[in-house]
Amino acid sequence: MSKRAIITGITGQDGSYLAELLLSKGYDVVGVVRRSSSPNYWRIQNVLDRIRLRPADLLDQLSLIRLVDEEQPDELYNLAAMSFVPASWDQPMLTGEFNAQGVTRVLEAIRQVNPKIRLYQASSSEMFGKVREVPQTELTPFYPRSPYGVSKAFAHYITVNYRESYDLYAVSGMLFNHESPRRGLEFVTRKVTDAVARIKLGLADALSLGNLDTHRDWGYAADYVRAMWLMLQQPHADDFVVATGISHSVRDLVEVAFGHAGLDWRKYVGLDPRLIRPAEVEQLIGDSTKARSQLGWAPTVDFTGLVTMMVDADLERVAAAPRLVDRLSTL
Ligand code: NAP
Ligand code: GDD
Repeated sequence: MSKRAIITGITGQDGSYLAELLLSKGYDVVGVVRRSSSPNYWRIQNVLDRIRLRPADLLDQLSLIRLVDEEQPDELYNLAAMSFVPASWDQPMLTGEFNAQGVTRVLEAIRQVNPKIRLYQASSSEMFGKVREVPQTELTPFYPRSPYGVSKAFAHYITVNYRESYDLYAVSGMLFNHESPRRGLEFVTRKVTDAVARIKLGLADALSLGNLDTHRDWGYAADYVRAMWLMLQQPHADDFVVATGISHSVRDLVEVAFGHAGLDWRKYVGLDPRLIRPAEVEQLIGDSTKARSQLGWAPTVDFTGLVTMMVDADLERVAAAPRLVDRLSTL
């Protein structure tokens, strides 16, 4: 009999890639969506006829208990979150409700309904923040630098705590930044590759950015959802860092993206101090030795491959739908 998986956050970048991966492995996939006045299914268009969507919200405990009780999944991937770091300073309380207490609600639903359900919790390298060690491993102490990072640190520890308190198979994936053509337009990689496409096609002539000197360990989202699945197939629940082990600056990103389109970035990129964060994470670089040796995981796309893939996808998309209204309809 095929396994059943619930994915919260299925309308997001990772949810869409994970749904494709699980379908390819024969899973019965149930996606969780929150109520909206207009559907937001552009990332999952190609799998909509093969998955089931169910309404629930991380803010609503009863909706989660009902969902888990009625579906009785083998695995639950909790990817839903307020994931944009700057927004967490504007809405710190809501960020905590979604990202921290929301995870407690998911854990409680599993504990109360069926403690045999395996849980993947989407933790983040933002927990390392002002890094205490280079590179960062599963044992590096946390020093989060944003309400988002703080909320994810709570979520990480509550997952570990429920595993140890109630013997749940609950794991925390400490994933470093991962991107794709499906990345939200507000994140720096996609903001840059979308702007490159617009500038190349004569639809824009400038791009405002914040800090060009921060470094991130950027990987490809489709590689990272494979690590999520592997973490739930092990004999024992454990936490893993998932990263490429190579860090690049935002300036490197800009150079590769504009260069791939034959453009000189210095002519177009301006700095906007309003985009500087109240507290910054200067440099992230992950050591994924444990994931590579215990899970057999490895990334397949490097930094240049990732950025050029995203530029090519945005060139194609913008060329096909150049007007702003078309762009908004794909968000
Ligand atoms: P994303 O594209 O922003 O997707 C977030 C998803 O969460 C969306 O489907 C969103 O639904 C859903 N959501 C938000 N609040 C919700 C609520 N209250 N109830 C139900 N669903 C809710 O994020 P992503 O890049 O795929 O990331 C997936 C997860 O991994 C997140 O938890 C993120 O914090 C974490 N993470 C991401 C990275 C990365 O580099 N991408 C790295 C480390 C960790 P709507 O479509 O309705 O908004
Ligand atoms: N978004 C954005 N926009 N970032 C900019 C800009 C800009 O105009 N200019 C410079 N940056 C810098 C930010 O200051 C940050 O140092 C870096 O680019 C990356 O920013 P984001 O792409 O917004 O990602 P993030 O690192 O803050 O967070 C992402 O990765 C985390 C894992 O480390 C998100 O996906 C989080 O949800 C995830 O947990």
